[in-house]
Amino acid sequence: MTILMWLLWAMPVAAQTGAPASVETGRTLFTGTLRFANGGPACASCHNAAGIGFPGGGNMGPDLTRVYARFGPDGLNSSLETLYFPAMTPIYGYRPLTQDERRNLFAFFQSISRKQEQSSTPAVGGLALAGLVILLAVTAVAGRHRLKPVRRRLVERARVEAGRRA
Ligand code: HEC
Repeated sequence: MTILMWLLWAMPVAAQTGAPASVETGRTLFTGTLRFANGGPACASCHNAAGIGFPGGGNMGPDLTRVYARFGPDGLNSSLETLYFPAMTPIYGYRPLTQDERRNLFAFFQSISRKQEQSSTPAVGGLALAGLVILLAVTAVAGRHRLKPVRRRLVERARVEAGRRA
């Protein structure tokens, strides 16, 4: 019994490489700049989180900014180990995160847990607005002379009619 408990305790520790967990590595794993060793998709394809920069993550899953605060260290640890959420199990069941990946993601979540959840909507909205303004400007410049010939003809006709009446 004691040996079994020791094994349970020692195995995860032995599996660690000993490198300190890195917030930056966790962030790059989250965004997908760094690939997961077992081929799982980047968390950001479905989740947003503070501090991952423009254009933010996906909206299919909940924002994970405060997941460390909400789940607590133990809860987050076991979540990362199992990724046991209905939408995720079919994807990660055969592509589990390695111990190091979990530790780095953990460090990343811990580092952002006090930040505000970030919404990508203002940035995307701003971009759309900028695009609209540019399009309007292009149309205005390109269409500058568009109505002149029509207008000239109308003015001439009005003059002729006015002359006839006079
Ligand atoms: C295919 C889309 C998808 C990917 C990729 C994905 N998730 Fe999820 N995740 C979800 C959805 C959807 C939920 C909401 C629960 C559900 O329906 O499964 C969720 C829930 C969660 C939750 C629980 C959040 C809560 O507030 O209850 C955590 C933690 C989580 N995901 C972590 C991750 C991590 C870490 C990764 C990257 C290793 C990841 N997810 C990748 C879709 C995804």
